Amino acid sequence: MNIGLIGSGGREHAICQKIFESRSVDRIFCIPGNAGTSKIAINIKANILNFKEIHKIVKTNKIDLVIVGPEEPLVKGLVDFLIKKKIKVFGPSKYAAKLEGSKAFMKKLCEKNNIPTAKFKICKNLTQVKEFLKISKLPIVVKADGLAAGKGVTICSSSEKVHNISREIFNGKFRSSKKLVLEEFLIGKEVSYFIIVDKNNFKFFGTAQDHKKVKEKDQGPNTGGMGAYSPAPIVNKSLEKKIIYKIVKPTLRALKKSNNHYRGFLYVGLMVVKREPFLIEFNVRMGDPECQVILPRLNSDFIKIIYNAVIDNLRRIKIKWKNEKSMTIVLCSKGYPGNYKKDVLITKINKIKFDKKVKIYHAGTKLKDGDVVSTGGRVLNFTSTGNSFFKIRNLILKSLKMLNWKAGFYRKDIGWRVINKR
Ligand code: AMP
Ligand code: GLY
Repeated sequence: MNIGLIGSGGREHAICQKIFESRSVDRIFCIPGNAGTSKIAINIKANILNFKEIHKIVKTNKIDLVIVGPEEPLVKGLVDFLIKKKIKVFGPSKYAAKLEGSKAFMKKLCEKNNIPTAKFKICKNLTQVKEFLKISKLPIVVKADGLAAGKGVTICSSSEKVHNISREIFNGKFRSSKKLVLEEFLIGKEVSYFIIVDKNNFKFFGTAQDHKKVKEKDQGPNTGGMGAYSPAPIVNKSLEKKIIYKIVKPTLRALKKSNNHYRGFLYVGLMVVKREPFLIEFNVRMGDPECQVILPRLNSDFIKIIYNAVIDNLRRIKIKWKNEKSMTIVLCSKGYPGNYKKDVLITKINKIKFDKKVKIYHAGTKLKDGDVVSTGGRVLNFTSTGNSFFKIRNLILKSLKMLNWKAGFYRKDIGWRVINKR
């Protein structure tokens, strides 16, 4: 089978590696991929929002199955487009992708189906914002309705800030939508729960804990994710049952009822308050960098799982997991999530012999005259597995030190919640 993988981040390199290890795969095409994927797949440059271009690549290269990594093409309807052209594709439809593409859609679905989530109000103007402020306690979370590349959420500790951020959104700061959602601020423990879904069934696909803040001790602005670990010990059997019965099943049932069944990975972002799960967000894809810690723990053939999800046969297959723990630390360009330099050479990456247990998933990289150069804010994901988070982290930090990339930085405290101070 020939596989087409859409995307170019660390998540896609981790997926690409699993596809590469799959027994039923002939050729892999990464659209557009990065320097890491170019070693195990054929990278094809393309605009992933130009669906006609993608379709042409699929046809020319006799691609049998397309897997979509990032949210934007999903929210804009790539899956519907390819299905119409009779192409096999893994990912949710445009309608189902609204779970991530519109916070207002997700919140309304929660309200209708009694799914636990923070109290909220959908607002289209400042009068509605003032009404919510009158009846709510600070801090208040302001969320842009549409996709905002991780920049759409602000936690506000004053009414003035709520007004200012709301005004910016109403004025069109995020092109995807001029609506917003105001939410009560939940205090608890955050965790991500993943499933893979087909028309009839779903299966567990791991848990992880991301670290969104740029600085150690969870300080500074939000990023796409500075590191993660898996599994997240907070998810025990009793919490998992609540997640499934209170959140996952009612959501999938509601979509099915409106004739818009879900298919794809579903990322359930939760806040656990006094052992009760509250839905913070849905993402209609794997997380990045969560994928980079979940996939190394997978002990089943990845393409077999994906293919069976596409033909609605998930029920028949068993997904096995390794007993190991896993962690990733993201090496970023200095300045990220603000401005940073591009095209900086990562001199030693191909010269150093890193420990065999350390895998490096590329994110914002490309090849330039045979050398690896940085192209993005998040550049490389140093990942490893083992029995102790403490030992895994030490091994990763040692490798990052060896690389000693002067244009980069990383958090040294990933996993602080599960690593006891010594
Ligand atoms: P989101 O894009 O909705 O996941 O929000 C980004 C981050 O903001 C989340 O990962 C949380 O850390 C935080 N957040 C969002 N909503 C809330 C809330 N209602 N209460 C507390 N923190 C929140
Ligand atoms: N790491 C957060 C996300 O993928 O949305």
